[in-house]
Amino acid sequence: MQPKVFVTRALPEEGLNILREVAEVKVWEEELPPPREVLLQETAAVDGLLSLLTDRVDAELMDRARNLKVISNYAVGFDNIDIPAATRRGIMVTNTPGVLTETSADLAFALLMASARRIVEADKFVRAGKWKTWGPMLMLGRDVYGATLGIVGLGRIGYAVAKRARGFDMRVLYYSRNRNEQAERELGLEYAELDRLLKESDFVSLHVPLTANTRHLINKETLGLMKKTAILINTSRGPVVDEKALYEALVNGDIAGAGLDVTDPEPPEMDNPLLQLDNVTILPHIGSASVATRTRMATIAARNLVAGLKGEVPEHLVNKEVLEKLQK
Ligand code: GLV
Ligand code: GLV
Repeated sequence: MQPKVFVTRALPEEGLNILREVAEVKVWEEELPPPREVLLQETAAVDGLLSLLTDRVDAELMDRARNLKVISNYAVGFDNIDIPAATRRGIMVTNTPGVLTETSADLAFALLMASARRIVEADKFVRAGKWKTWGPMLMLGRDVYGATLGIVGLGRIGYAVAKRARGFDMRVLYYSRNRNEQAERELGLEYAELDRLLKESDFVSLHVPLTANTRHLINKETLGLMKKTAILINTSRGPVVDEKALYEALVNGDIAGAGLDVTDPEPPEMDNPLLQLDNVTILPHIGSASVATRTRMATIAARNLVAGLKGEVPEHLVNKEVLEKLQK
């Protein structure tokens, strides 16, 4: 009998076809994620789950899904999954790192530049018929070239952003759990404790995963350390930033602007006051959203799932501890 797989949204066909070769595949075709009850119901009898960052995969779901062997997340981040709960139950969890690194770094840099040069605001200005003439004081922004960039979290994506910054002759500071002296040598980066990074940077870009330690890492206090002229870029996870504190900081002029690809929650409530601010650019979590990268993510997520179903060790296994459990 073929294993059963549930895919929580329509993905590029390349990935679905890989799954269909070995499994009975059901795909949730709606635009919105499956509601909680549907997700619990659809996963109750499956062997494999292909989940998105919009699906909460927790102990309750795992307890109901008695046959579940592998959860393949279509993302590099996996904060939507209770990893210890999966490990305890002998369920493998996989993600899609690597393939989205450069695409995500492109987006972070695009957001940085858009925020610095007020691209979105300027476009709206033209469309609203407000552009009367060339003006010496019109839409003045901030230089990216030669500025200081502070990268918080020097994983693959943070590193790729630093590479881009070099082309703009930026001075790049980074803060990370571990120092990376090789990256310092390769890219001329300078390690700084978070406080110093925040104090000295013109742009601060966040590239940490969401964990208990990084939740609200950017808060009233840390925002207070930033320059009044600084711009915050968040392409990681919304809850890394305390949005209320961010709003206050922007309104009070404690920092100059923000570029957000992620919010808390997603999407933001329409009465979220951040949406009223001209010095904030907000995108709908599109960091990895290029045609080529989303196709590669689908292929990799499918391969991870298939490997797990066959009892092999998937290439991008997140919870390696689960292997001990499975050998017992
Ligand atoms: C997107 O945010 C991801 O984690 O892949
Ligand atoms: C993602 O690829 C990261 O580790 O930053």
